[in-house]
Amino acid sequence: MRKKIVAANWKMNMTLGESTRFIESFLLDAADIREVEIVIIPPFTALAKVTELLENKSQSIKVGAQNMHWERNGAFTGEISAALLRDLFIHYVILGHSERRRLFGETDEIVNKKVRAAHEATLRPIVCVGETLEQRDKGNVEKILSIQLRGSLKDLSEKELQETVVAYEPVWAIGTGRNATPEQAQEAHAFIRQTLREMSDETTADRIRIQYGGSVKSENAQELMGQQDIDGALVGGASLDPRSFAAIVKAARDQK
Ligand code: PGA
Repeated sequence: MRKKIVAANWKMNMTLGESTRFIESFLLDAADIREVEIVIIPPFTALAKVTELLENKSQSIKVGAQNMHWERNGAFTGEISAALLRDLFIHYVILGHSERRRLFGETDEIVNKKVRAAHEATLRPIVCVGETLEQRDKGNVEKILSIQLRGSLKDLSEKELQETVVAYEPVWAIGTGRNATPEQAQEAHAFIRQTLREMSDETTADRIRIQYGGSVKSENAQELMGQQDIDGALVGGASLDPRSFAAIVKAARDQK
C-alpha cells in the first residue's frame, strides 16, 4: 500500500522567524503522526533552520527544496545543486512546478535533466504536471499530461521511478481557490498511473505516489485524498498556517 505524502510548498514566503514559529506550532499538532509522510518545503534561506528545528523531533517529517540546478557544481551564479541540498540533509525537491515552467521557462527537457541529477544525488524529486484551463477546455488534458510525464520522467530506471513522487497540479486550480473536484482529480490521477504503467510496469506504477495540488485546504482534503489514486497533497497557500496544514495532514491520516 502506498503511504500518503503531504507536502507544504511555502513558495517565496516565510522568514526565519515565521518558519520557527510555524515548526514549533506544527509539532504540537503533528509530531506524533506516523501514518503519513510529511514534507516541509521552505525557501532556500530557511532550509537549514527548519532542518535544525526538526532534528530528532519526528521520523515522519522530512524537508524539501523548491528547485535546483542539474549541474553538480560550477559557475552558475544564483543556482543551487543537488549536492548542496544533500549537504543540508534535504530529502525531497520539487521540480517542474507550473510557476517555474510558466515564469522561468522550464521545459520538460530541463525538468528531466534536473530529475536525473536529483536521483543521482539520492534526492527524491516531486515532479509537477498539469494542464492550463485553456488546454482543459480544448479537451487536451490527457495529451498534455502524457507529454509532460514522458518528457520529464524520461530515461529513469524502475527504482528511480518508484522513488519519484508525481504531483498533479492543474494550473487553473493553483492559488485560485478553485480546486479540481474529487472526480476530476481522480480521473487525471488514474490517467497518470496508466501512463506510468505504459512507461514502466504494473508493480512500478502501483508504487509511485501521485499527489494532488491546487487549492487544497482542510475543507476539501479528506474527499480529495479519499480517491483511489490520490496519494497525498502538495499544498501551497493553506500550508502557511500550521493549524490548517496539520488539519490537512490529519485528513490524509484518517483516510484508511
Ligand atoms: P495552492 O498551491 O495550494 O496555493 O493552490 C499549490 C501549489 O502550487 O503547489
